[in-house]
Amino acid sequence: MQALAELDLPYLPVQSPEFGADPTGHFARARAQHPWLARSDIGYFVHEYRAIRELFWMDDKMRPSFDGIVEQLGAHGTPWGRFTEEQMISLPPAQHKLLRDTFAARFTPRFANNLRPMMRETITGLLDEWVSKGRFDFEEFASWFPISVMFRLVGAPVARIGAIKKDLETLGLAFSMDKTRVPALQQSITRLDQLVHELIATRRARPAGDDPEDLLDLVISAGDGGGISERQLADLIMFFFIAGYDTSKNVLTFTMHLMMKNPTVYARCAEDHDYCRKAIEEALRYFNPGTTFRFTDQDIVFRDVLLPRDTMLFFPLSISGRDPDAFPDAETFDPERAIDPNTRHLAFGLGKHMCLGQYIARAQLQESLHLIAQRIKDPRLDGEYGWRPFPGTWGLKGLPIRFAAG
Ligand code: HEM
Repeated sequence: MQALAELDLPYLPVQSPEFGADPTGHFARARAQHPWLARSDIGYFVHEYRAIRELFWMDDKMRPSFDGIVEQLGAHGTPWGRFTEEQMISLPPAQHKLLRDTFAARFTPRFANNLRPMMRETITGLLDEWVSKGRFDFEEFASWFPISVMFRLVGAPVARIGAIKKDLETLGLAFSMDKTRVPALQQSITRLDQLVHELIATRRARPAGDDPEDLLDLVISAGDGGGISERQLADLIMFFFIAGYDTSKNVLTFTMHLMMKNPTVYARCAEDHDYCRKAIEEALRYFNPGTTFRFTDQDIVFRDVLLPRDTMLFFPLSISGRDPDAFPDAETFDPERAIDPNTRHLAFGLGKHMCLGQYIARAQLQESLHLIAQRIKDPRLDGEYGWRPFPGTWGLKGLPIRFAAG
C-alpha cells in the first residue's frame, strides 16, 4: 500500500486565473503523470472518470466538506457560514436522509414535465424581448432564464428578479475561495433569506384555492408532512435558488458556444425536440460546471493508496466526461453518441447527493435550446469571451454573439 506523500503526483495550479481557460488541458497533462490523482494548494483532485464513480459509491465514508470551506474563508458564525454549513448537502447523514426521503420522491420527471409549458412561455417571453437586438451577450441573456423560471416556480415577485440575480452571481463565486468576497456573500445570503421567508409566510397565509401545485407548495406540503423545521424549509428553497442558477446558466451558455461550432446540430435542434434532448445530454457530458468535494471520514484504501481520514478530495465532474478511457473519441461532440449505462455523464453527481433538481434542469435546458434555435438563427461569435474561476461554478464569462432574428 502506498502513502499519499510517497506518490509522485502532478501539481494543478487550480487557483491561477489562467486555469479556468483550459482545465481539460491541465487535467490531460496531469493524467499522463498519474492516472487518477493530482495535488493542488486546496486539496487532492480525483480526475479519472472511473475513479470518481468508484469513490462516489463510498460516499458513506466521506462527508461533503463545506465546513472546511467555511473555515478556509474564515466565515464561521456568519449568515453565509451558517447557511453553507446547514444547507441540505452539508447536513449530517441522518438529517440529510430525512430531508432527502421527504423530498426526493416528489422531484420526479413527471413533476418536471408538467413545468415544460411554463418554461416554454418563459423562454419565449425572453426571446421576444431580446431577439430584435440582433447581437448581445448570450451569457447575460441566458442568466435571466433559470431565475425567471425559479421565480415562477415559487411565486416570487418579478420586480425583485434583478437584485436576487446579482446576489446569486455573488453566491455562485463563493467556492472560488477568495476571502475578499466574504462581506458580499453575507449581504447576498441575507437578502435571499428575507425573500424566502416572505414567500413562505405569504403562501401559508393564502386561502386554499384551485391554483396548481408549484414548487413552493410541493416543498411546504412535503416538509410539513415530514416534520421539517421552518428554518430547514427556508434553507432548502434558498438552496434551490443557488443550486439552479449559475449551473443552468453556464450550461446553456456553453451549449450555445458548442452550437456555434456545430451549426448542423443547432439547426436540427430547432426542428426536432427529441434530438434536442440528445444534444443537451451530450453537452452535459462535454461540459458541465461542477466540481464537488468531500473530506474522507475515515482512512480509505483506494487502488492500493491510503487516503487518510480528513483528506480533502475534489471531484471535477466538469471534465470527467472528457476522459478518453471512459468515452471513445471524447473530444468529439456527438449527440448521437451511444449511451453506455456504465459511463453516463456525471453532470448531476452520483449516489445519495445526486442532484434533486436534475429533471427540472434538463427540462429547462431542452425547452430553451429548442426555442432558442428557432429564434436565434446563424449565431456567430461577436467579440472576446473569458472563463469563470475553477473550481467554482465554472463556465464561460460572457459570450458576445450576433445572429439573424427568427
Ligand atoms: C444544469 C443544472 C444543474 C447542475 C449541473 C447541477 C449539479 C448538481 C450536482 C453535481 C449535485 C451533487 C453535488 C454533490 O454530490 O456534492 C447537485 C446537487 C443538488 N442539486 Fe443540482 N444541479 C443543477 C440544477 C439544479 C436545480 C435546478 C435544482 C433545484 C431546483 C438543484 C438542486 C439540487 C439539490 C437540492 C442538490 C443536493 C441534493 C442532496 O444533497 O441530496 N440543482 N446538483
